[in-house]
Amino acid sequence: MSENKPRTGPQPWTPGDEWKQPGEARLFAPATLRNRDAILAVLRDVLPAQGLVLEVASGSGEHIAHFALALPGLTFQPSDPSAEALASIAAWTRDQGLPNVLPPLRIDAMADGWPVDRADAILCINMVHIAPWAATEGLIRNAGRILREGGPLYLYGPFRRPGRELEPGNAAFDASLRERDAKWGLRELDEVEALAKAAEFGAAQVVEMPANNLSVVFRKRPILRVADGADGGDRTRTAFRAERF
Ligand SMILES: C[S@@+](CC[C@H](N)C(=O)[O-])C[C@H]1O[C@@H](n2cnc3c(N)ncnc32)[C@H](O)[C@@H]1O
Repeated sequence: MSENKPRTGPQPWTPGDEWKQPGEARLFAPATLRNRDAILAVLRDVLPAQGLVLEVASGSGEHIAHFALALPGLTFQPSDPSAEALASIAAWTRDQGLPNVLPPLRIDAMADGWPVDRADAILCINMVHIAPWAATEGLIRNAGRILREGGPLYLYGPFRRPGRELEPGNAAFDASLRERDAKWGLRELDEVEALAKAAEFGAAQVVEMPANNLSVVFRKRPILRVADGADGGDRTRTAFRAERF
């Protein structure tokens, strides 16, 4: 893949492809330079002013370095299952001298028992369509456990939407992903939202992004505190009527 090649939509990137330079731990994913400011603009509204932001599937680590520089009140925890990505994230953090980025953790979204118990927000950029569906299931299940009431789960990437045909660029991208791995491909936003609802998130807030991508934000539903006896013994339950968006 070359920067001179015409781009009709989102482009895939996985560690180990030709963005790696010889003798260099940092990976370079050119798409991050094109999308990072549009994503940051949305994150400025979505993220709290302070707290811990966990990123799942940090990839090269270029996004988290950019966000950490722009949002110094937050502490960022990068993660990825790939050893090559972990080395790249650490190298980018070192290179930029970022005090608010923690050492990267090895996290496979599919697995349970993530080495993080609590976060104030979770980001996952360009993973849902470039990993088996079980990774999205695990991401949302674990996010539901880790986030507190109102905490945002932010997803970015191209999705299928009910009643809309895929744009030609996304259709071609989807076909190329499926060719690379039959378990990959653009996901139905409805199906992602159903997982989120089951994990006690509210409805999706969707923001249209450049190059036919979406920002999708789910917030953890508030827990309704119930006075002793009013619920027949259950002291807390999820307030299903309370929607943040
Ligand atoms: C296309 S890259 C996106 C990287 C980065 N977020 C970006 O936008 O440049 C996909 C990333 O998903 C990661 N990934 C794949 N399967 C995963 C899984 N099961 N759990 C967590 N991350 C996964 C890959 O290692 C890779 O870093």
